[in-house]
Amino acid sequence: MSAAPFTPGKLVWNDSLKLGVPEIDEQHALLFGMMNRLLDHPESLAYDELIVDILTDLGKFLILHFQTEEAMMRKLGMPPEEYEQHVHAHNIIIDEYAELNLAAARGKHHTAAEIFAMVKQWVSDHLHASDAKIRNYVPVPSPD
Ligand SMILES: [Fe+2]
Repeated sequence: MSAAPFTPGKLVWNDSLKLGVPEIDEQHALLFGMMNRLLDHPESLAYDELIVDILTDLGKFLILHFQTEEAMMRKLGMPPEEYEQHVHAHNIIIDEYAELNLAAARGKHHTAAEIFAMVKQWVSDHLHASDAKIRNYVPVPSPD
């Protein structure tokens, strides 16, 4: 009897993850949805056309999202040192992501489920360790 296939759980967006910046919150929810697409084909391999398409879309979206988030942090007046640390964390994710895509192109046998698990780890860690700090700079709405 073979072992059950490795199937991690999909990412579930909920209000507790919101930072209070609608543009960023919407992008985070979209990002979860794009990542979850990988689990629609958990056993497909990284270099299968279907998965390459998802990974390409995801890569483009990650870059757009990081640019949006960095512009927002500057607008919110985050101190330069904290801003630089956050940008550095984004750049590490982009590097790791590029590495993963390179491995896929070289025919390394990662399944979509394994890729999902890796990206999920990076994104969840980043949301909790870095993005959560953006909340400190979001103006509190005045009560009407
Ligand atoms: Fe971020």
